[in-house]
Amino acid sequence: MSPILLNSIGKEHHDYIKQEYVKNPHLDSMEEDILYHFNLSTKTHNLPQMFGDVKFVCVGGSPNRMKSFAEFIHEQLKLPGNIADVRDICEGTDRYSMYKVGPVMSISHGMGVPSISIMLHELIKLLYHAQCSDLIIFRIGTSGGVGLPAGTVVITEKAVDSFFRPQFDQVVLGKMIVRSTELDEDVAKELLKYSTELPDVPTVIGDTMCTHDFYEGQGRLDGALCSFSTEEKFEYLKKAYDKGVRNIEMESTVFAAMCRVCNLKAAVVCVTLLNRFEGDQISTPHDVLLDYQQRPQCLVAHFIKKRLGLML
Ligand code: URA
Repeated sequence: MSPILLNSIGKEHHDYIKQEYVKNPHLDSMEEDILYHFNLSTKTHNLPQMFGDVKFVCVGGSPNRMKSFAEFIHEQLKLPGNIADVRDICEGTDRYSMYKVGPVMSISHGMGVPSISIMLHELIKLLYHAQCSDLIIFRIGTSGGVGLPAGTVVITEKAVDSFFRPQFDQVVLGKMIVRSTELDEDVAKELLKYSTELPDVPTVIGDTMCTHDFYEGQGRLDGALCSFSTEEKFEYLKKAYDKGVRNIEMESTVFAAMCRVCNLKAAVVCVTLLNRFEGDQISTPHDVLLDYQQRPQCLVAHFIKKRLGLML
C-alpha cells in the first residue's frame, strides 16, 4: 500500500500525487482554505471530485471569451450533454468566471498582472487541493503585434519585461524577488507544429513583452497622458523587435513566473490585434476581431485533441 501523507488542509491522501504545485509551508496548518475570489472552499466543496480529472487549464482575460472557449471545447471534444448546461462555477462572485468541460478548465483572469496573479494563486491551490496531476496550462489572449500583421498568432518563447529581461519582479515584504519567466519549450514547439495543420491560423514563435499598462507602458501616443515623441516610440518598438519581441500584452511575465515556480507546464498563445508599427488604435471591425480572437482558441483546442488522441 502506498504511504499516507497529509495534504495542505491536514487531510490524508496517498502518494500518487507526485506534483506539488504549491510552494507554501503555511498551507499545511490551515483547517480550511477559502478560495475567496472563486467562491470555493476546501470545506464546502469536494475539490478532488469536482476537478480531479482536469488535464488542461486555459486562462484568458475576458469572461465571455472563456465561456465561448468552454463551449467550443465541449463541441470539439464531442462531450456528452448540452452546451447550454456549461455553467459558470464561480457564479457566486463577479471577479472571475470558471468553466469545466471534461478534462479542460477555462477561466478568466481580467486585465493586467495584479488581476491574473490573484487568480493564479487561487487556481494553483485549487489544482493542488483537487489532487490534479500532469497538467498543462495555457494563457490564450490578445496582444499588439511588433512587426507582425494583425491576426498573427504568437506562441511565446520567452516572456520579457519592459526592459526586455526574461524576469518577473515581485516585491515581497519590501524586498524584490526576481523570478524567471521561461516557459515550457516542448509545449511551445508542439503548438508551432500543430499550427501548420490549421488553415487560417498564421503562427510564429517569438518573445512577448509584458507591460503594466496598455497606453504609455506600451509606447502608445493615444492615451490621456503621453510623455514621449513619435520618434521615441518607434525607437523603442524597433529596439523591442531587434531583441526578439514579436508582441506586447499585460500578463505573460507573472503567468510564466508563477507556473514555473509551481511546476506547471505553461504556454502563452496570443493573437495580434494590430501591428504597432502601423498605429496605436484598434480600429479593425468587430467581426474581424472576433475571428482573430478565435485563432488562439483553435490552436489550443487542436493541441488538446492531439494530446487526447482524438486526431491523427
Ligand atoms: N492587448 C495589449 O495589451 N496590447 C495591445 O496592443 C492589444 C491587446
